[in-house]
Amino acid sequence: MQLNIFKDYQTLSLHAAEAIVETVKSKPTAVLCFATGDTPRLAYELAAKKAINEKVDFTLCTFIGLDEWVGIPEQNTGSCRFFLENLVFQPLLIEPARIHLFDAMSADLDRECRKMDEAIAETGGIDLMIVGVGLNGHIGFNEPGVSPELYAHVINLDNITLSTGQKYFSGATALKQGITLGLKQVLQSKKLILMASGTKKAKVIQKALEEPINNDMPAGIIRTHPQGQAMIDEDAAALLHLQSTAPASE
Ligand code: GLP
Repeated sequence: MQLNIFKDYQTLSLHAAEAIVETVKSKPTAVLCFATGDTPRLAYELAAKKAINEKVDFTLCTFIGLDEWVGIPEQNTGSCRFFLENLVFQPLLIEPARIHLFDAMSADLDRECRKMDEAIAETGGIDLMIVGVGLNGHIGFNEPGVSPELYAHVINLDNITLSTGQKYFSGATALKQGITLGLKQVLQSKKLILMASGTKKAKVIQKALEEPINNDMPAGIIRTHPQGQAMIDEDAAALLHLQSTAPASE
């Protein structure tokens, strides 16, 4: 695993944005899977700006959704779809045919999962996956204890996820389940970047990166990925004994 510790959120976001744009420069038909959440928000904004300034065309890329809140309609500003539409798809002019997101309102969520598994298989695999980490160590909605063998699935959300998740919504919102790519698909992505920022993530980052790998800490998977890169800021690295690895971080 490569570990890059950056001095602050801005610097972390700049480097993550660079990694995104570089991926598409070297492979204009890249298959991209982006987590939502507060952590990667600025990286996506900067990536879109950089792509526009440098005329890097994202319109041949395919986008795969990582996760979604079950029962939350797409117009809801807290939905993952709403986030990606605004920060990624609209600025980069991505056509709907190139976007595969979970329909979390579907009456047949199992079918949604299989559709997503097939969509990924048809693309030939995800080239770059960007994930965040939940306070409980989840990736996407792979909650602690989940089997690393799962593909897309529906899962009952942890209490921590249910309460933290409220921050994305404009008013109190009933949340219960998530629909998510499985850890098998996280591990199968060709390149995996895990981002974390802020002191609130320091404990979970220390556990994920330094404690023995087990199913109770899904984010630990970053260490088993052959092209895994943890990009974190100094606050999130506050409890780590590990040092930043090459290339040198700022
Ligand atoms: C959310 C999402 C994850 C996200 C994580 C961290 O619940 N399901 O995909 O990476 O929690 O979010 P944040 O970056 O807002 O801390």
